[in-house]
Amino acid sequence: MARAKISLIGGGQIGGVLAQLCALRELGDVVLFDIVENMPQGKMLDIAEVARVDQFDVELKGTNSYADIAGSDVVIVTAGLPRKPGMSRDDLLGVNAKIMKQVSEGIKEYAPNSFVIIISNPLDAMVTLCQKITGFPPERVMGQAGVLDSNRFCSFIAWELGVSVRDINAMVLGGHGDTMVPIVRYANVNGIPVMEQLIRKYGEAKAKEVMTAMVERTKMAGGEVVKLLGNGSAFYSPASSAIAMAEAILRDQKRVLPTCALLKGEFGVDNYYVGVPCILGAGGIEGIMEFELDAEEQALFDNSVAAVKGLIDELPSILPDLADILK
Ligand code: APR
Repeated sequence: MARAKISLIGGGQIGGVLAQLCALRELGDVVLFDIVENMPQGKMLDIAEVARVDQFDVELKGTNSYADIAGSDVVIVTAGLPRKPGMSRDDLLGVNAKIMKQVSEGIKEYAPNSFVIIISNPLDAMVTLCQKITGFPPERVMGQAGVLDSNRFCSFIAWELGVSVRDINAMVLGGHGDTMVPIVRYANVNGIPVMEQLIRKYGEAKAKEVMTAMVERTKMAGGEVVKLLGNGSAFYSPASSAIAMAEAILRDQKRVLPTCALLKGEFGVDNYYVGVPCILGAGGIEGIMEFELDAEEQALFDNSVAAVKGLIDELPSILPDLADILK
């Protein structure tokens, strides 16, 4: 059987880690594309030259030509600027929208049958743009944010309770911005509610404080890393998170992963991309797992969707030549 083909658009910090993870997991042959000459070729040569030590048999190619992504099963996009300390993801809209236009046109032309996973920020707006420009069915165009945001929330809970993060389940919904919505009500340790454990440990009032602090840290977790790095944003964690999504599709795992998906009425949202639990398998987004939000969660979710709408409304003035399709 032919190996799968994964193309990575953007060969920077995240792109390099993505390439290495694809190789280590033997997900398929990998093409790393960037506009910077020689850099993607150098990174792929570097990874390829350790194949014997790491024991993988896949082909790795760096390129500056979109023609090399032809026949891709999955394309993962990280092209674009990362934020600097003090910036929000939304501050990247103007510059990254123009990059995403070029990238989407390249994917549309050379990899018309691929599944596309976007990582570039501001995430929800970039996924919207890519879907509109490629015209691919929405189940084939999605964004990575929720897997990472949820994992961050799980990590903070695990550290607080002093238990393995493998036994924590917690999810973050909504847009991938400062208004994202960590869902406290369903956060659990192998089915045991996290809130109940915190109340037993601290009593009601302090438990609420501790949970609020974890929720706020989750919402700002990307910025915490940006501040510490001083130059660039998180790259190991978004790469691993996108690989989980790509693997679910390529291996038809039917995983339920928080994914930036186009909503058509689910959670009360019509025609906007935001993060919700999705079933990922060989068909891409095979289903959206809708569930009842309580009034407070719905209000927070609506507020997050409103922030995404605000960015989408700015797109036609940034890309006036696309005003028609961005309506
Ligand atoms: N086409 C292809 N690649 C491009 C283009 C373009 N038009 N413009 C820039 N790039 C490349 C850059 O050359 C760079 O190698 O995108 C790469 C981005 O890499 P980094 O600057 O290292 O950024 P990274 O940390 O990988 O983050 C990429 O993901 O999480 C988001 O906010 C983050 O938007 C940022 C993106």
